[in-house]
Amino acid sequence: MTTTAVLAGLGAYLPPRRVSNEELSERFDTSDTWIRSRTGIRQRRWADTGISTGDLAYEAGHRALKSAGLGLGAPIDTVVLATTTPDHPCPATAPDVASRLRLTSAAAFDISAVCSGFVYGLMVAASTIEAGHAERVLLIGAETYSTILNPEDRTTSVIFGDGAGAVLLRSGTPDEPGALLGFELGSDGSQKELICIPAGGSRQRSTYRAPDPGDMYFTMQGKKVFATAVRRMGESSTALLNRVGWSIDSVDHLVGHQANLRILHSLAEQVCIDRQRVVTNIEQVGNTSAASIPLALAHAAAQERFKIGDRLLLTAFGGGLTWGSTVLTWPGITPS
Ligand code: UT7
Repeated sequence: MTTTAVLAGLGAYLPPRRVSNEELSERFDTSDTWIRSRTGIRQRRWADTGISTGDLAYEAGHRALKSAGLGLGAPIDTVVLATTTPDHPCPATAPDVASRLRLTSAAAFDISAVCSGFVYGLMVAASTIEAGHAERVLLIGAETYSTILNPEDRTTSVIFGDGAGAVLLRSGTPDEPGALLGFELGSDGSQKELICIPAGGSRQRSTYRAPDPGDMYFTMQGKKVFATAVRRMGESSTALLNRVGWSIDSVDHLVGHQANLRILHSLAEQVCIDRQRVVTNIEQVGNTSAASIPLALAHAAAQERFKIGDRLLLTAFGGGLTWGSTVLTWPGITPS
């Protein structure tokens, strides 16, 4: 039988500091009513100064290992970290996280696909296993968006939160609960300016001249992104379901990128799935970009919402632009 990646562990970690809509309303010209009605968010977590993406990734990675019955120093072949907010522009954050997890012989690298990073990471991790290059891969999605938000931009500042989620994938077979059964990924770089940090890279180097301070921060054209996110996640989900031969009625849970509750509801309408089957945790954590899907999975699993063998459709959309979907059956693991 073909070798397939199987979900064997799930971990989540949120930094302790809760930031309520009320707290943000004291800092910005905004209100709890606006934030809740336009996004569905009630609170998010922000890492205190000194806590980095790598620190959150370490905690989530450790929990995913424990959830899989493993621990520090486990025989992991590859560590993949999906993030938009690495600890440093160079080197990647994954080797440091791998080292702290005592995974001393693992290959380790970051991938950058913004809010689609976790789904892109699943494809990379699953392909590595299917090709026989790894038996076990630890995939972490971790973000500290609080470090890149423009303190003068009320729109992005109320949406994004910090956190990390991780999964342990092992080599298995497609008939096992937990098997990842297909992918559908895409991108459109011609719209890169819709979600962008203009300065700090090779296009607008900070070393040559001081950039416009606003260019150092995350920017997003929310309205255009909203419409494109619904369309791309919907099209990607439908294409993947057609490819694997699942009807939408047979999908037990849709776990979409938690960008905005209204986006999730519009997506449900577009793919014709009942809202009851849409997993949401955005109310508690906001948009955590590459950490969003594993955090939503861990939240729903902790509430015992999934049963062994349930069919899950995961779909994400983010800067790049990038988008992607995957399907799996639920393995009955307990998140840590
Ligand atoms: O994770 C990657 C993918 N990201 C997304 O998918 C996010 C997609 N976009 C969105 O979720 C929404 O577009 C936002 C939540 C970002 C914005 O919601 P919106 O309903 O599209 O609002 P808008 O940008 O059209 O702004 C409507 C009004 C404007 O005022 P006027 O011009 O109508 O007077 C804004 O200035 O709301 C105002 N506004 C705010 N008011 C209070 C914008 N941000 C805020 C705020 N508080 N925080």
